[in-house]
Amino acid sequence: MKRPEMTFLPQNQSVPIIEGSSVLETALRNKIPLAHSCGGMGSCTTCRVFVEKSVENLNPRTEVEEDIIEGRGFAHNERLSCQLNALPGLVVRIPSNPI
Ligand code: FES
Repeated sequence: MKRPEMTFLPQNQSVPIIEGSSVLETALRNKIPLAHSCGGMGSCTTCRVFVEKSVENLNPRTEVEEDIIEGRGFAHNERLSCQLNALPGLVVRIPSNPI
């Protein structure tokens, strides 16, 4: 049986998901470079990604995420990877210009 995976762009790299892990944790576990200045505490926004597939299945923004993005004009599919659960079939794009 195939293990559940998610995909990172622009690398176009699909990696296995461990249930309960964030997208940031999944990236780092698989050596995919993703900025994370605050270490996943939800206070820096450097870990943002754009969700390109499975937007409808995402966990709602956490209170921490809502607070830090307030007034920053984030798009509906622009999420903090440290606050976003990794899901099977999820595709995220890492921006070339981290904040
Ligand atoms: S690592 Fe800082 S907000 Fe996600």
